[in-house]
Formats: sequence, C-alpha cells, structure tokens
Amino acid sequence: MYDFCRLLSLEYDCHINWCMKNNVFLFLLTIFCCIFNIFQSPVICRAVVAGECEICHASYPGMMEPAEPGKPQRYVLQNKICINCHSNSDRDTLKTLGGATVPVVFNAASPKVLLAGGNFHFNAKDFGDRKGHNIDGISSPDAKNKGLPPGYDRRTDPSVIGYNPQKPLACSGSNGCHGDRNIEDPFQSIVGTHHAEDTPVDGSTTAKSYRYLRMTKKVKGVLGIEDPWWDHDRTARKHNEYSVTMNRLCANCHGDYHGKENTGKENPWLRHPTDNVLPKRGEYLFYNPDIMPPPERPDIRVFSTEAPVARENFSEAGDLGESVKPGKDMVMCLSCHFAHGSPYNYSLRWDYDSLYAGEEDRGGCMICHTGKGE
Ligand code: HEC
Ligand code: HEC
Ligand code: HEC
Ligand code: HEC
Ligand code: HEC
Repeated sequence: MYDFCRLLSLEYDCHINWCMKNNVFLFLLTIFCCIFNIFQSPVICRAVVAGECEICHASYPGMMEPAEPGKPQRYVLQNKICINCHSNSDRDTLKTLGGATVPVVFNAASPKVLLAGGNFHFNAKDFGDRKGHNIDGISSPDAKNKGLPPGYDRRTDPSVIGYNPQKPLACSGSNGCHGDRNIEDPFQSIVGTHHAEDTPVDGSTTAKSYRYLRMTKKVKGVLGIEDPWWDHDRTARKHNEYSVTMNRLCANCHGDYHGKENTGKENPWLRHPTDNVLPKRGEYLFYNPDIMPPPERPDIRVFSTEAPVARENFSEAGDLGESVKPGKDMVMCLSCHFAHGSPYNYSLRWDYDSLYAGEEDRGGCMICHTGKGE
C-alpha cells in the first residue's frame, strides 16, 4: 500500500481517497479537489479516475501489487489484465466500470457493434487464425506466421528491443502496438497512462498519442482525432479521424508492406499502395459512389466508414468529418484492415472473397475503385 500511495503525487490529486478513505476530513477534501478539478479540466477526470478506485483496483487484484513489501511493483498476469478489463461476456462493446466507460475489444459472444479497432472475438474462435492479430491470452500464436509479423523489417521498427518472435504478441510493450515499444513489459509500457492528461493528441506522451499508440519515446506517437465513443455509433459525419502516422505504426512490425518497392500495378498485386493520395482524377473522383455529396459542395465526396481515408494534416479540422477530397486524402492500412480482428480473412473490413465472386458489387474495394471515369 505504501508504494501505491507514494505514486499519488499532486498529479493524482483526485485519487487521494484511495489512501485516505478512512479519514473523513481528507476524504471530503479529496471530493472537493475532484470537483474542483472537474471544473478546471474536465478531461483529466473524465474517464477512469471518475469512479471509485476499488472497483477497478480490487476487481483486478495484482494490478499494482509489489512483488514483496518494499520491492518494485509487479504487474501479475501482465497482458491478461488488459484483456480482462477490456472484455465483455455479452455482445456489447461498451461497458461501465467504476463510473468509467470501458471500450471492449474482446467479446465472448458475437459483438453487436464493432468499435473502431474491430474485435478479437473472431480470432479467438477455432480457425480464427486469419481473422486478425492473435493476442496472448485470447488466442494461441498464429500457426502460419510462426510468431513473426508478416513482412517484419528490423530497420523500420523504431523499438530498441525489436519484435521478439519467441514471445507472444501482446496489447502493449515491445511485442505490442499500444504503449512505449521501447519497454518490454506490456504493463510497464503503459503504466500511468489511464490516469494521465490525454489532450491535446500531439504524440508527445503515451496518453497524448492517438489511442495510446506511442510507438517509442524517440519518435512521435500516432496522431488523430479520437471519437469519444471509439466509433461505436460512427456515421459519415462523426467518426475517428486518422492521419498517415497510423501507417508508421503498422510499419513498426510490417515494414515490407509499406515500402514503395513492394507495391505496384501488377494484378494480383503483392502489396496495395498505402500512404498515397487518392488521385484527383478518373474513378477516384467518385469515391463512395452511392452517396451523393451535398449540392452546395460538388467538390467533395462523402466519407465512408467502410473504407475510411487518412488526412494529411488536421489544420483544416473544421473541414473534416463528412468530406473526402480526392487530391488530398490518403489511403492507409486501416482503409482495408481492422487493427484488432474482423469476421473476414486478413482482418479485412469486408469479405474480399465474395467481392471477387462479384456477389457484392458496391462495397469494399469498389468504394475507391468505382470503375467510373477511366
Ligand atoms: C475504471 C478503472 C479504474 C478506476 C476506477 C481507477 N483506476 Fe487507477 N488504474 C487503472 C488502470 C487500468 C491502471 C493501470 C494502467 C495505467 O496506469 O495506465 C491504473 C493505474 C493507477 C495508478 C498507477 C499509475 C502510475 O502512475 O503509476 C495509480 C496510482 C492509480 N491507478 C490510482 C487510482 C486511484 C487513486 C483511483 C480512484 C480515485 C483509481 N486509480 C481508479 C484503472 C482504474
Ligand atoms: C481496470 C480496467 C482497465 C484495465 C486493467 C486496462 N484498461 Fe485500458 N481502459 C480502461 C478504461 C476505463 C478506458 C477508457 C479511458 C477513457 O475514456 O479515456 C481505457 C482505455 C484504453 C485505451 C483507449 C485509449 C483512448 O484514447 O481512448 C487503450 C488503448 C487501452 N485502454 C489499453 C489498455 C492496455 C494495453 C491495458 C493493459 C496494460 C489496459 N488498457 C488495461 C480500463 C482498463
Ligand atoms: C508489435 C508488432 C505489430 C504491429 C505494430 C502490427 N502488427 Fe500486424 N501482425 C503482427 C504479428 C506478430 C502478426 C502475425 C500473427 C497474427 O496473425 O496474429 C500480424 C499479422 C497481421 C495481419 C494478418 C492477420 C492474419 O490473421 O493473417 C494483418 C492484416 C496485420 N497484421 C495488420 C496490421 C495493421 C493494419 C497494423 C497497424 C494498425 C499492424 N498489423 C500492426 C504484429 C504487429
Ligand atoms: C487496399 C486495401 C489494403 C490496404 C490499404 C492494405 N492492405 Fe494489407 N491486405 C489487403 C488484402 C486484400 C490482403 C490479403 C491478401 C491476400 O489475399 O494474400 C492483405 C494482407 C495483409 C497482411 C497479411 C499477409 C499475410 O501473408 O498473412 C498483412 C500483414 C497486411 N495486409 C498488412 C498491411 C499493412 C501494414 C498495411 C498498411 C501499410 C496494409 N496491409 C494496407 C488489403 C490491404
Ligand atoms: C481508400 C481507397 C482505396 C481502397 C478501399 C482500395 N484501393 Fe486500390 N488503389 C487506391 C489508390 C489511391 C491506388 C493508387 C492509384 C494511383 O496512384 O494511380 C490504388 C491502386 C490499386 C491497384 C494498382 C493498380 C492501379 O490502378 O494503380 C490495384 C490492383 C488495386 N488498387 C486494387 C484494390 C483492391 C483489390 C482493393 C480491395 C481489397 C482496393 N484496391 C481497395 C485506393 C483504394
């Protein structure tokens, strides 16, 4: 307990009641602090810290236990703890815990709505190997890839540790996507983040990186604009906004899928061009062909949540949301893939096989490859 309380510096002034819960005066003072803090900066107290500490810190024992009294904290169960809290036994992908809303990335039952990252549910089932990232604690290592990320290139991985194929893929840490990839331990690589100030999203700390996607301390984290409900009710107008730094993150482990030398015009292509602007010509002028732009904006196309594009920069934030501009907006890994898992092979956002068979002639690839104008 001592170690735990020692961590509660002024930065954590709205958490003091954890230590002082038996002291009525300090308890009230803390409540006052908390309310005050909420007034001052709604973001700090918005999420996790709004709830009672015990709800999380006792439901997941070991989250901060020292190995022995006086020894450094040891995060027992490691990666499993992230999964336990970010899971749900039913089909909902948002759950409430300690007054905070937890984004659910792994549902035991088939999820009703996929959050922005998709869901590990599909991967956990038998023969789910191809449906996304096989995360330690949810699924066994991918049989085909033998633990290695396909297309791994040590030179494009900024982590000083690098990806270790002897160890399983985790949520965070050097073998994971979230947190600081210069730190091996999944928990240690993210600790402090859930309670830290998380705006503006400028990539300067883990909390201030888009969805805690820090990459490493030496490089800037992923940038983007975070939908407060993780895209639960995404529409053309209201959704996460991505930047091409997301491609950098994927290139941490899939560098070969990124380099220009591996993409081309051959069909079937080996790697789809990524990071490139939707050309302002030909078929791309009709991106998302089923939805007509508003009559007063004939120069834009309407954003498709099925095949989202990344933005070059966010300085024109007011003009984002619904509009997609050929000649400006870009193709990214997540135009076609879900980051966690999906019902389709290769964690794709749509059923590629049935697209091929022509069963579905509008969605997926055809949102960009409209076949018009060329
Ligand atoms: C909704 C769940 C939740 C609630 C409620 C919650 N925490 Fe946490 N807390 C976490 C998680 C998850 C972590 C570990 C990951 C992290 O630090 O980002 C954490 C980490 C911490 C840490 C370690 C951070 C560091 O900088 O080393 C402290 C201290 C802490 N919590 C204190 C509190 C206190 C005090 C309260 C009550 C006011 C509280 N927490 C309420 C989820 C919660
Ligand atoms: C006790 C529950 C709990 C545990 C354990 C926990 N989280 Fe979270 N996590 C939360 C809650 C609550 C939020 C929502 C915070 C918010 O609204 O900003 C969250 C948000 C996140 C987000 C999204 C951040 C954003 O910008 O919206 C990521 C990524 C994440 N957690 C990763 C992890 C990882 C990795 C671990 C394990 C090292 C972990 N979490 C452990 C409760 C937990
Ligand atoms: C920390 C390393 C790491 C990062 C970062 C990473 N991946 Fe992966 N990825 C892996 C590993 C390991 C595998 C192979 C094991 C598996 O499929 O679970 C893999 C497999 C894949 C597959 C094939 C899935 C399948 O089931 O065959 C796709 C698609 C993929 N990743 C896309 C992405 C995208 C998109 C991003 C960026 C959002 C990304 N990855 C970021 C490590 C990573
Ligand atoms: C235009 C759509 C599209 C984009 C953009 C895209 N991919 Fe893919 N990706 C696919 C398809 C389709 C497959 C399945 C290919 C196949 O059938 O072999 C695939 C397969 C993969 C695989 C699995 C390869 C294997 O052999 O298991 C990985 C890993 C992957 N993509 C990573 C990425 C990364 C990283 C990016 C961004 C740099 C990216 N993809 C961008 C469509 C795309
Ligand atoms: C987000 C938009 C987008 C999506 C979705 C998309 N593409 Fe593309 N695709 C592009 C762009 C942009 C180019 C590069 C065009 C250029 O620069 O000339 C391209 C190029 C290609 C090429 C190379 C030939 C050429 O015309 O340059 C092939 C083949 C291709 N895409 C197939 C696919 C397939 C198959 C899918 C579905 C798995 C897909 N694309 C999904 C935007 C997209």
